[in-house]
Amino acid sequence: PLVTTADLVARAQSAGHGVAAFNVITLEHAEAIAAGAERAGTPAILQISENAVRYHGGALRPLAAATVAVAEGSGADLSIHLDHVESVDLLHETADAGLSSVMFDASHLEYADNVAATRAAADWAHDRGLYLEAELGKVGGKDGAHAPGVRTDPGEAQAFVAATGVDTLAVAVGSSHAMTDRTSALDLDLVAALAEALPVPLVLHGSSGVPDDQLRAAVGAGMVKINIGTILNVAFTGAVRATLAEDERLVDPRRYLRPAREALADVVAQLAALVGLAGGD
Ligand code: G3H
Ligand code: ZN
Repeated sequence: PLVTTADLVARAQSAGHGVAAFNVITLEHAEAIAAGAERAGTPAILQISENAVRYHGGALRPLAAATVAVAEGSGADLSIHLDHVESVDLLHETADAGLSSVMFDASHLEYADNVAATRAAADWAHDRGLYLEAELGKVGGKDGAHAPGVRTDPGEAQAFVAATGVDTLAVAVGSSHAMTDRTSALDLDLVAALAEALPVPLVLHGSSGVPDDQLRAAVGAGMVKINIGTILNVAFTGAVRATLAEDERLVDPRRYLRPAREALADVVAQLAALVGLAGGD
């Protein structure tokens, strides 16, 4: 069924576990994430990024409506989140799209501007009962650049949360977006310091590049929402490529999308279980 992100994050946090948030690009992604979560017996967050909305022509509604329908028909508890939103117009489309949370990403702005933009987004979201995530520091990798020296400072993060009223915070602790190998080294002491300093749950971005043992340790140190995108597409596209290579006369997309969807569901099942069982007592 469709549930809210606030509920899933609160449940995970009170149990000391994590909850995985997986990026949806196509309908097959949504179907595979639902199937993988059901198989793992865990909840999951399905997240649609601003980039994915742009890919689908700029309107949120078509992919969001399909994703909501998949969640409603699933046996797993699933929520829908809008990810990495920089456009205020797109933020405002979340009001009646069936989503329960949004990440407003003003991390590219200077601190004071990030605070002002995030405060406005949080006020807007809270007026409509939506849960708001923001980012302080810079996870990096979104433009292909792995910029150093942008980790989140616990004192600044404390002030940021107080000044903006956000519900949850994405922090930069050593991961980077869009990695196709799992070679990130997280600063687990910083994760623990941030978890100690902040009154809100923490979000890890760029989790595809983080090895299993570090993901477990990050949840153990206080990370709650674990965002996973690229590793799904490594599996999905790998399966498409392998299927097409076997038969060059193949034309029916279902013949290559089905194994791709299954490969994606396998990765989801594994990571949803890992994140959902990590931490705790
Ligand atoms: O917001 C989305 C995530 O941070 C996904 O990052 O594609 O590197 O796993 P990733
Ligand atoms: Zn991200």
